[in-house]
Amino acid sequence: MTIPGISETAAAHTASLKPPHFVLEDIVRPNILSLQPYRCARDDYQEGILLDANENSLGHALPSGSSALPLNGHENIKGGNDAAAAQDAVAGPSDPLDLHRYPDPSLFGIKSTLAKHRNLPGDEHVFLGVGSDEVIDLIQRVVCTPGKDAIAVCPPTYGMYSVCAAVNDVGVVKVPLRVDDGDFSLDVDALLSTLRSTPNIKIIYLCSPGNPTGTLLDLRDVRRILDEPTYKGLVVVDEAYIDFAEEEIRLGRRDKAQQVSAVPLLAEYKNLVVSQTLSKAYGLAGIRMGIAYSSPALIQIMNNAKAPYNVPQPTAHLASLALSPAGVDRARLHIKQLLDNRDELLAALLPIPGVGDVMGGNDANFLLVQILDAPKTQGGKPDSARAGRVYKRMAEERGLVVRNRSSDLGCAGCLRITVGTQIENRRCVELIGEMLRAEGIGA
Ligand SMILES: Cc1ncc(COP(=O)(O)O)c(C=O)c1O
Repeated sequence: MTIPGISETAAAHTASLKPPHFVLEDIVRPNILSLQPYRCARDDYQEGILLDANENSLGHALPSGSSALPLNGHENIKGGNDAAAAQDAVAGPSDPLDLHRYPDPSLFGIKSTLAKHRNLPGDEHVFLGVGSDEVIDLIQRVVCTPGKDAIAVCPPTYGMYSVCAAVNDVGVVKVPLRVDDGDFSLDVDALLSTLRSTPNIKIIYLCSPGNPTGTLLDLRDVRRILDEPTYKGLVVVDEAYIDFAEEEIRLGRRDKAQQVSAVPLLAEYKNLVVSQTLSKAYGLAGIRMGIAYSSPALIQIMNNAKAPYNVPQPTAHLASLALSPAGVDRARLHIKQLLDNRDELLAALLPIPGVGDVMGGNDANFLLVQILDAPKTQGGKPDSARAGRVYKRMAEERGLVVRNRSSDLGCAGCLRITVGTQIENRRCVELIGEMLRAEGIGA
């Protein structure tokens, strides 16, 4: 059946991709496949006197010149509060972002920029969501029938895959990563054998670099799953932290021959979705902008199923700035600084008595650090109870919050520490030393 809204070229492009055993129309829920997307007059007419969408014709009602509302634009754009107040009196509040209008539902400009950044043919390969959390959820809602289908996850991994599954009444099948010695690679044989014996699995969520592991997945492993003929579902590779590893390649700190992102595989595979975000390397967690890259057919289905105005106008505006050449240059500077800070944090943590290995690949903007029951030199073992105490005391008595991941599979005794500023990192190192001394280690 034809997907509503898809162009002939987009359909033909998708059909030209492999693998032959994957038929999108067979895995998308029939009610989603056939749904006629919400349409409004604005899809056809964007200019003129717009009395079509029941917006507020007088403009927004935000207080004039409020310093808490920089996007109001009064101070920055109209030259001060008096000018803004004068303008309000005559013509209503200034509204450089057209906040009283519904946002553009298609956002072709941002999508084209992202497609160009990622060497994809065009905007039809790009979906924009309210954070990658919306992407994770929407894919499930599009593909998994509640009460019937399941997803596969590879713990230790990002928790939202399973939370969305619980909300959507979708089963969760766990195929752990290889956790021995902090390897955290995919157990492809176990995954393939689970897929063969569990036909109701419709999506596999892989996280690369992983959270909380910080480890990049081997794309040869991802290919094996994409090529598995008995698996008819989607493979989602969550690359929320990929920009950190990619920048290492650009900076010559990582082998140039190593391909880290799965995005280039989209030129071959139609059963792949890659999700990314502006929340991490671009430092824009507050605006909630997530991205899915996939075949034009799946992207069309996701667009058909999403709420029409899911990405707010201020978010779109800030995302465009972030993705401009100047924005990208600035993001790269920040990434480089964070990579340097990560090295410094790592070097400062390791000599602390009672700190064990730094687990995983360190391929993101955090470290996964073991807390031990005795100094490493005396054969100390990971100690989850002690990690819990250190975590709690640092937060409650010293006001420094890390994440306690010691109950995650393969992460016994582990705290996950986000790389901070140099000052924050030094404080963190100081406090971990202090907490461990208070525990009688290295006193
Ligand atoms: C692996 C992973 N995926 C997705 C997300 C969610 O990102 P976003 O802010 O784009 O919703 C996070 C956030 O921590 C994450 O760690």
